[in-house]
Amino acid sequence: MWEVIETGSTNADLLAWADSGTAPDRSVLRADHQTAGRGRLDRRWDAPRGANLLASILFLEPPSVPTMLTQAVGRAALDSIETVAERDLTGRLALKWPNDLLLEGRKLSGVLAQRSVRTGAVVVGLGLNIAWAPEGAASLQHDLGLEVTPDALLDELLRHLDGLLRAPDLMARYRARLSTLGSRVRVELPAGGVLEGVATDIDADGRLLVDDGTAVVALDVGDIVHLRPA
Ligand code: BTN
Repeated sequence: MWEVIETGSTNADLLAWADSGTAPDRSVLRADHQTAGRGRLDRRWDAPRGANLLASILFLEPPSVPTMLTQAVGRAALDSIETVAERDLTGRLALKWPNDLLLEGRKLSGVLAQRSVRTGAVVVGLGLNIAWAPEGAASLQHDLGLEVTPDALLDELLRHLDGLLRAPDLMARYRARLSTLGSRVRVELPAGGVLEGVATDIDADGRLLVDDGTAVVALDVGDIVHLRPA
């Protein structure tokens, strides 16, 4: 594992390193601070220096269904929090499709996967609010009273990730804590327009299946809003 005080983006760094051909598989990079942190859908991901967990993991030979990596990282983040908290947080802590972690319905963590066009390697980056959260979001310190360093939380996360990537029932474990399933959701479609319906399932490629009453639509990407349980 590598740690840096400050960088632009740990995802960008690991991608560049992978492209140089010298990075070992499963390299992990954690930063205290990012000056150009990237979020999903071209958003920024900001956090004050040292406050939160900001880290990326490199997979040189990703599986044919790369969403299993992001599902595993999301579920590992959830498991690592429960380990540190020494309690089961079912009902309070849940995954939201595709890979957000929600604490009592507010965003606690997000995952961004990026693929190198040159080598096909995949970098999975995670931001998790420990001591600071943007408005409307949750943090471990404020909302759970949990004191943990980014480093210690990352150690736990990597330990859980190792087990999950070997587990034959990874998809089942991901689904078990996915609060999106069975919820009424609204989605802004990339091509324009809005889809509203019930999230009924995840397919083998990690796509979310939404039934709007007339058809079932499979979503690859998107930003969904949970409206209420169906
Ligand atoms: C999201 O938008 O929900 C995903 C956020 C992912 C942020 C993390 S922080 C570490 C890594 N480096 C980045 O530039 N982004 C990811």
